[in-house]
Amino acid sequence: MTSDTELLETASAVLRDNDLGSMIKAGPSLYPHQWSWDAAFVAIGLAQLSVPRALAELGTVLAGQWTTGMLPHIIFSDQPGYFPDFDDWGTANAVGLPPGVRSSGICQPPVHAIALDLVLDQARRAGGANRRIAEEFAAEALPRLARWHEWLSTARGYDDVVEIHHGWESGMDNSPRWDEVYAAVDTSRRLEFERLDLNHAAAAERPTDDEYQRYITLIEQMKSVRFDDTRVKEVLDFRVTDVFLSAILVLAAESLARIATDLGHPEVAEVERARAERTRAGVLATIDPDTGLCRDFDIRANRWLDTETMGGFAAVLMGGDDPATVRQRDLLRGERWCGHPEMAFWLPPTVSLDSPELKPREYWRGPVWPVMNWLFSWTALRSGHREDALRWRAAGLDQLRDLTFGEYYEPRTGETLGSPQQSWSAMAAIDWLSHPRWS
Ligand code: SER
Repeated sequence: MTSDTELLETASAVLRDNDLGSMIKAGPSLYPHQWSWDAAFVAIGLAQLSVPRALAELGTVLAGQWTTGMLPHIIFSDQPGYFPDFDDWGTANAVGLPPGVRSSGICQPPVHAIALDLVLDQARRAGGANRRIAEEFAAEALPRLARWHEWLSTARGYDDVVEIHHGWESGMDNSPRWDEVYAAVDTSRRLEFERLDLNHAAAAERPTDDEYQRYITLIEQMKSVRFDDTRVKEVLDFRVTDVFLSAILVLAAESLARIATDLGHPEVAEVERARAERTRAGVLATIDPDTGLCRDFDIRANRWLDTETMGGFAAVLMGGDDPATVRQRDLLRGERWCGHPEMAFWLPPTVSLDSPELKPREYWRGPVWPVMNWLFSWTALRSGHREDALRWRAAGLDQLRDLTFGEYYEPRTGETLGSPQQSWSAMAAIDWLSHPRWS
């Protein structure tokens, strides 16, 4: 069996190999650019290797901030081979794109303040120059992150949670969470384009061509109004609240409040604490009394989306001990999810093995994602559920001992799937093996 030392060394090499200098590619060939939430997660692992490099990664994300406050989901490198690329996005004349930035026109979950908080923590433990440059960086990042959060709560605020405009914004592109919403996207005009993702991963492990028609149609709709935050709501066929992203905003706002307090900005801390409280209540209010899971809401169709997926465990991520959250945590730990007798490891699959929606090889329709394992383990640790946290860590590490650092894994067999040497999968191993919070 692969030793911890070998696992850590190989994971570190993955980040080194994917490093383009100012950004770490999300994956070596399928994803040759910087993805927003990938980069935030990666910075957490990078901090264990080099605090300045971790700060530089977050710096690249923040340099791409739109004048609206949005942090875009992709910052493009100059590497070819990905579709849709900067030109396909048509953001060059978008309302809000700052000069010199080459980005997509949508966002991703706001992991960034969480990452900055953890990088700062590492820098303070290291002390000396690391501490100084991290605190200087944090002082500059604070207003930018506050504007980002404010954009999510205002331009995208809906019933105290956050609305999204594309499955890609959730990060869980083709999760069955979004099937009903995607079904309503008007694809009567067939679009011509070449999918480049299939040059790097098996078609059976990626979204379908029909799904891609819908993804690209939404981009065309956004382009037609130059990605304007207000007008886009009138033309888009996809408007839905995202409870999982909203739960991440709660954690991020709590992190940013802590950073602001440390840096002597109590007024920012207060705004972020209020945001966290309001959004937490908003997420809890979505819980389906029957299933116990949090629900997304289809704004255009005016109905709850109650498909059972990992996204429903938003309350577990936020980490409360109220009865509804306790019930959700028990469900996640139980036989329908992590404890399903056919699961290769005691880990959260993206769709339950008992669900009729399960497609165990298809991206967000069933596979186990190492970065989600890390997120659930870290949030459990943070909220005092140490036993769960350590159990997820141990199982998550065992899954990574094949050294492929797969993007996702078959839940029953543990087979590696999707893009190998994925940066955020390597990050999970690095943090789990290096940070003293786990020992
Ligand atoms: N995850 C998407 C892709 O697969 C884009 O955000 O390309």
